[in-house]
Amino acid sequence: MTHYEKPPELYDGLRLHQNENTAGCSPRVLEALAALGPNQIGFYPPYATATEKCASYFGVDSDRVVLTNGLDEGIMALAVRYLRQRDGVVPEALVPEPAFEIFRFDTAVAGGRLVQVMPNPDFSFPLEPVLAAITPETRVVFLTNPNNPTGVSMPLEAIRAIARRVPREAVVFVDEAYAEFAGRTFIPDLPSFPNVIVGRTFSKAFGLAGLRIGALVGAPDVLDSVRHAVPVYSVNIAAVVAVQAALADMDHVREYLRQVQQSKRLLYAACDRNGLEYRSSDANFVLVCAGDRTADLVKGAADRRIYIRDRSTEPGCAGCFRVGTGLVEHTERFIAVMDEVLCGVR
Ligand SMILES: Cc1ncc(COP(=O)(O)O)c(C=O)c1O
Repeated sequence: MTHYEKPPELYDGLRLHQNENTAGCSPRVLEALAALGPNQIGFYPPYATATEKCASYFGVDSDRVVLTNGLDEGIMALAVRYLRQRDGVVPEALVPEPAFEIFRFDTAVAGGRLVQVMPNPDFSFPLEPVLAAITPETRVVFLTNPNNPTGVSMPLEAIRAIARRVPREAVVFVDEAYAEFAGRTFIPDLPSFPNVIVGRTFSKAFGLAGLRIGALVGAPDVLDSVRHAVPVYSVNIAAVVAVQAALADMDHVREYLRQVQQSKRLLYAACDRNGLEYRSSDANFVLVCAGDRTADLVKGAADRRIYIRDRSTEPGCAGCFRVGTGLVEHTERFIAVMDEVLCGVR
């Protein structure tokens, strides 16, 4: 498959299938949106202040940040910049699997060649195979830390080793969509590794998925070449004011992070009770291996309007589903369904 098929539009129940923040955004965001006036909505949006606030949150200068319409747009811009065929060379995108599927599709859109590295059975990062797959045609190495769909983190040292090995014309992309949950980031390393671009999003920890805002962080000259592939006013004024309001309410984020930790503990205990394997996750979701019981679980939950994501067809993920572990109350609802469905199929 070379194009992305969006998951079905399921908005009539509990959405635990797209790693969103089911607690929603800070009330301050709603206030900021309500305060938007005709003069703001009527004009193209200004980015300087929002970029400064985001840069300060990331601990970098403003010229190291490009705001994008969701991190998805940043990934597409990166693909367009690095993976178009030029001078008879077909650029290669290296993707350690299982990975965020958008990397695959954006590589195809840009015209690059996908080079997949298959996972270790425990989903620990396959550093040696990744290093061995780098060629003179490698132009992007797509990494995600912590990874989606596994929730497993990779060592920062592995990122450094890859950045040292790639060709001069290449970049290493470190997708940190879930970094807040892991409490670890490559950003402090960026001055030493100008060929690394970090991707961040406000969709997950900050609960702004519907507004679409993310960022690329990296060396100014490297980012400049990617910036040209981002439409000039792609981040709208609602996202511009929302991100500033969200950053001003870190207590809201901290409370969500606390609930995510508790949710994961509850889910692990429920899996242990039901004899299901899972990966210990550094994100706001967990990959659970229920084997031949996965289909029943996904269907049983959907029948009760709780949505989880069957990941069985992803490399290394046969028999696995991914479930969001955000608000404790929501995790408890899913666990009750899991216990009920598994009781029936045992
Ligand atoms: C690894 C990863 N990167 C990027 C994104 C997209 O983020 P955004 O909502 O900012 O486009 C997601 C969303 O699920 C993701 O899992």
